[in-house]
Amino acid sequence: MEITLSINSKPQTVEISPSETLLDLVRRLGYTSVKFGCGEGACGACTVILDGRPVNACLVLAATAGGREVVTLEALGDTRRPHPLQEAFIDAGAIQCGFCTPGMILSAQALLDRNPDPSEEEIRESIDGNLCRCTGYVQIVEAVRLAAKRLRKVGAKSPGRRAKTGSR
Ligand code: FES
Ligand code: FES
Repeated sequence: MEITLSINSKPQTVEISPSETLLDLVRRLGYTSVKFGCGEGACGACTVILDGRPVNACLVLAATAGGREVVTLEALGDTRRPHPLQEAFIDAGAIQCGFCTPGMILSAQALLDRNPDPSEEEIRESIDGNLCRCTGYVQIVEAVRLAAKRLRKVGAKSPGRRAKTGSR
């Protein structure tokens, strides 16, 4: 079957199988920031933003993504032009192996889109579906807080962002 969806603001018409997950589809299309972790909704490594909400792409059938907007980490920034959240994760020491980082950042981005000045509790809530085996979360929470502070200072939600992520 064929569906048309938007990935990082780019409309794409793709052939999919009825059982293909959104995780498999985006990785097949080259968006490899989206990671396969558990494959059963337990780790958050596969987080993407779907119509403004962070979701576990391993639990979403690609067939249901037709006509919808998907955002992956590739839309936010890269090594040459990092997003403030990516910079803050580096500055706060919130990245070790990095496997959880794309999903963490997208969950944090969805939070900051709707709340530019979140409390620590709100930050922890926003990432409670994203597991990290390495950092112990303290640095991750600090990174989100740091990014939020920097973004408020420049008076923008996410300068440099290439795609609209919407809000949860
Ligand atoms: S791979 Fe999707 S939640 Fe773990
Ligand atoms: S940095 Fe390794 S899982 Fe989070």
